[in-house]
Amino acid sequence: MVSQVQEIKEKLDIIEVVGNRITLERSGKNFRSTCPFHSEKTPSFFVSPELQRFICFGCGRKGDVLSFIQEYDRLTFPETIQTAAEMAGIELNQDWKDPKEQERQKLFAIMELAQKYYSYLLTEHASGKAAREYLKKRSVQSTTIRQFGLGAAPDKWDGLVNYLTKKKNYHPNDVVNAGLAIQGKKGVYDRFRGRVMFPLHDHRGRVVGFSGRVLDPDAKEAKYINTPETDVYHKRYLLFGYWQNLDAIREKESVIVTEGELDVLSSTQAHVRNIVAIKGSALTEEQIRIMARTVKTIYLALDADSAGIKATRRAIELVQPFPVSLRVIPLKGGKDPDELAKSDPKAWREMIKQHTSAFEYVLDTTLAQQDMSTAQGQKTVTNTMLELLLTIDHAVERAFYLKQLAEKLGIPESIIEEQWQATQKKHTQSQLQQHRQPTPDSSEQAEEESGTSDTLGEYLLQILLRLPLPANTRLNPEWITELRLRRILEHLLEWQQDYKSFELAPFTAHLPDELQETVSTLYIADFPVEQKMMDRELRVTLTQLEQRWRKKRLAEISGALGQLENKDELTEAEEQEFLALQKELQRLTTLG
Ligand code: CTP
Ligand code: MN
Repeated sequence: MVSQVQEIKEKLDIIEVVGNRITLERSGKNFRSTCPFHSEKTPSFFVSPELQRFICFGCGRKGDVLSFIQEYDRLTFPETIQTAAEMAGIELNQDWKDPKEQERQKLFAIMELAQKYYSYLLTEHASGKAAREYLKKRSVQSTTIRQFGLGAAPDKWDGLVNYLTKKKNYHPNDVVNAGLAIQGKKGVYDRFRGRVMFPLHDHRGRVVGFSGRVLDPDAKEAKYINTPETDVYHKRYLLFGYWQNLDAIREKESVIVTEGELDVLSSTQAHVRNIVAIKGSALTEEQIRIMARTVKTIYLALDADSAGIKATRRAIELVQPFPVSLRVIPLKGGKDPDELAKSDPKAWREMIKQHTSAFEYVLDTTLAQQDMSTAQGQKTVTNTMLELLLTIDHAVERAFYLKQLAEKLGIPESIIEEQWQATQKKHTQSQLQQHRQPTPDSSEQAEEESGTSDTLGEYLLQILLRLPLPANTRLNPEWITELRLRRILEHLLEWQQDYKSFELAPFTAHLPDELQETVSTLYIADFPVEQKMMDRELRVTLTQLEQRWRKKRLAEISGALGQLENKDELTEAEEQEFLALQKELQRLTTLG
């Protein structure tokens, strides 16, 4: 792959390529112009035929023919290669046309057709009448129907299958792979029948799945059915409404997380548009990651049942590495946001302002569940909350909550503090205990030992390869478990030391062959983070990697300590090692 990039670059002349896009004038050995990347009156943009490179002394942009095409034409790297290859008259080899990616493109195309089909039936066709009436009954306006692309699945076994296979010539297997049809004994049939259809978009606005709701309130089938996991639909990434409401979410720098599609629709109609739904399941790390790229605050507006509280506790833990604060909007009167937004939009908008920290919310609900006049009740609340506190990374935040806990319980802070020390100690001990009996079949462990597959490490490299300047970090290559990735990282850190800047092409060229392939694949892969958010994304990823590494190192140390402890006598060297390990252990287990 990389050698084809070289070949393309050698065939192209930067003067010709740039000259075709902007007017160049000769200036000694070089050519110059006003800079196409920033506005200026006197030309400070230079192109060198010798070096085949450009540089702007005004804005600092520089690069080779490929980076010029990429920036000027605003392309992704793979698109740049396609364009440049065409200009150079080079036929790209198969590596550039990832068959898996082509398969995904096909699924995207099918999903889009399905969305148009369902939408047509809902808005124009006689068979959509029942769904139209249902949505009317639930006060969903026609602008909302359009905005969210809602549809209707006909009450037949082969409506969509026929459309896609007979009219659009797709193979029935394709429709099954898209999750829209089910393979039966006598052929394939529609998964969604007689339902209102909610298209599910990814964060880039592509339809990746559907959710279908029954019309009849007394129906025996599941109220909602959803697309199963496919090559393009991954439930844990999905946020209903995120795409449609992204402008409002960006503007407010905050997002309200609800359970269901109708919560989002009704709230949007009530002019509260920074809202999404996680579709009745617990908030995942992936969903938090997506939101944390654009917002500073995540508000949970989940059912106040035990599942909702459990989800809140879990969210507190998951949100730790991300630079977002987690707040809760307590839903009053046992209604969900859909009902609240419809019955009294103004009251709903007011309620949204009454948010509390997620920790305080869990504390309040736990307090309400216990009899605080008994020692047992006070003990239960204390234990529950201190356990939750263990998951909070920041010492200042912990101190704040400890104080709050003491106040709400009406117990001196020193006593709560004493119990907190005990809880921490117990936690460290139980962690050690767990690590001392390693379960050999634990897949995570096996994975790490063989040094294979490290998704987080891959993610880190994808970020680093996209940073123009060396990342000034506390990065330790040991944090990466996959050997190949770790070697690339080591090369990268070395390169940055030597050159104080980073450029993909020369860096890649200097790598051993077997690593070049990996680097190009990592760089070519679709990457969802905007350039200006890259630094922030880097910090988050580093925190996660460090935490993971810390856990692993803890296991190793306690294993080694256990072995040494079991010996009757220690040699001097072993004694030394024992002390060193203990010291490291202490460092690692001091939280925060
Ligand atoms: N859900 C689902 N599958 C189910 C039930 C629910 O995917 N079998 C998801 C849907 O996204 C739904 C959300 O969980 O919107 C919340 O479900 P529920 O609490 O049952 O929602 P209701 O408010 O009762 O449903 P609706 O507003 O549609 O009447
Ligand atoms: Mn509802």
